[in-house]
Amino acid sequence: MMVCEYKPGLEGIPAAQSSISYVDGQKGILEYRGIRIEELAEKSTFLETAYLLIWGELPSKEELEAFEHEVRYHRRIKYRIRDMMKCFPESGHPMDALQASAAALGLFYSLRDLHNPAYIRDSVVRLIATIPTMVAAFQLMRKGNDPVRPRDDLDYSANFLYMLNEQEPDPLAARIFDICLILHVEHTMNASTFSARVTASTLTDPYAVVASAVGTLGGPLHGGANEEVIQMLEDIGSVDNVRPYIQDCLERKAKIMGFGHRVYKVKDPRATILQKLVEQLFEKFGHDKFYDIAQEMERVVEEKLASKGIYPNVDFYSGLVYRKMGIPTDLFTPIFAIARVAGWLAHWKEQLAENRIFRPTQIYNGRHEIPYAPIEQR
Ligand code: CMC
Repeated sequence: MMVCEYKPGLEGIPAAQSSISYVDGQKGILEYRGIRIEELAEKSTFLETAYLLIWGELPSKEELEAFEHEVRYHRRIKYRIRDMMKCFPESGHPMDALQASAAALGLFYSLRDLHNPAYIRDSVVRLIATIPTMVAAFQLMRKGNDPVRPRDDLDYSANFLYMLNEQEPDPLAARIFDICLILHVEHTMNASTFSARVTASTLTDPYAVVASAVGTLGGPLHGGANEEVIQMLEDIGSVDNVRPYIQDCLERKAKIMGFGHRVYKVKDPRATILQKLVEQLFEKFGHDKFYDIAQEMERVVEEKLASKGIYPNVDFYSGLVYRKMGIPTDLFTPIFAIARVAGWLAHWKEQLAENRIFRPTQIYNGRHEIPYAPIEQR
């Protein structure tokens, strides 16, 4: 058997062959199925991009309409899921609520027919359609309110913002939110996608695949960083405090949230697009001093850490967009999940097409031949 060098975090080790997305970390390029992210952010919608990722090609007008129609009519959640969510502690993190609810959905669809395209399509539609409803329902129920029913006359993002805020969103805000979903939907072999593929490789159901990926996305080194960015901006408080804050992080060898990436060694192209969206939002709805702090951070971090390839990543500016829309900080990562579920499902489908169960090896560095010590001798 070939012996490979051990790489902590599997850095640089291919875990799959995939044609879903591509990153050039040196040039700052991200493509979904070969199409540049900048073009999709300008011209596409979240559901069209989700279709592209999952089925490999942009849909025709009829295909897109059919997909949008199916998603629209599967948005409602079962009352048993809603009642289960009502019992969750309101102090719990919405990512945990989402993980539990996504897994619970599998209880209702236990027939596993992984080789049937109709089963795959139904599962894709159901998960993409219901995850936003679950996120919005938990948000309202933890405030003591009843969840709001989805509105069939609103498109995907506008409907989510409506269910969350109990009022129809401004069209610019809804479009910007939809672009945010496009930017977060897929990103090659990141931790949660890897998790999804490992779970998929056991041939379990797609609800378990998504639940395991949601659990992985929640950590602060992955999707949870967007929450921590806002906390950091609040702690910094003013532009004058930026330089001493960064200096202190560097001295303590603490990571500055929203900066750095395993793959990008230049500014993340998604951060560049998000920054423009922040500016558009602020132009229409008023400025936020946090943006000045963020810009100063970008300048100082570049000055100090550009030599290490540390630049803003996707999480640095996304929080500012959501904050301006009045979305609570602990929903930022569930919103990341609303988008990323389509990417995970594209990987689920790809994994099934040429499946081999993940079973890596390890380098054992423990002891051998140790005699069992009776409890009274320990
Ligand atoms: N602030 C300061 N220094 C950093 C940072 C940072 N945010 N990120 C990396 N470095 C330094 C690190 O200290 C190390 O320096 P040295 O070589 O002198 O020891 C060097 O850069 C390499 O760091 P690493 O931790 O080995 O890099 P990694 O590829 O394992 O980690 C990362 C990538 C994203 C986990 C890391 O950059 C990080 O923790 N960033 C902050 C958290 C964050 O923003 N996460 C969101 C990631 S993007 C979206 C997503 O994937 O979900």
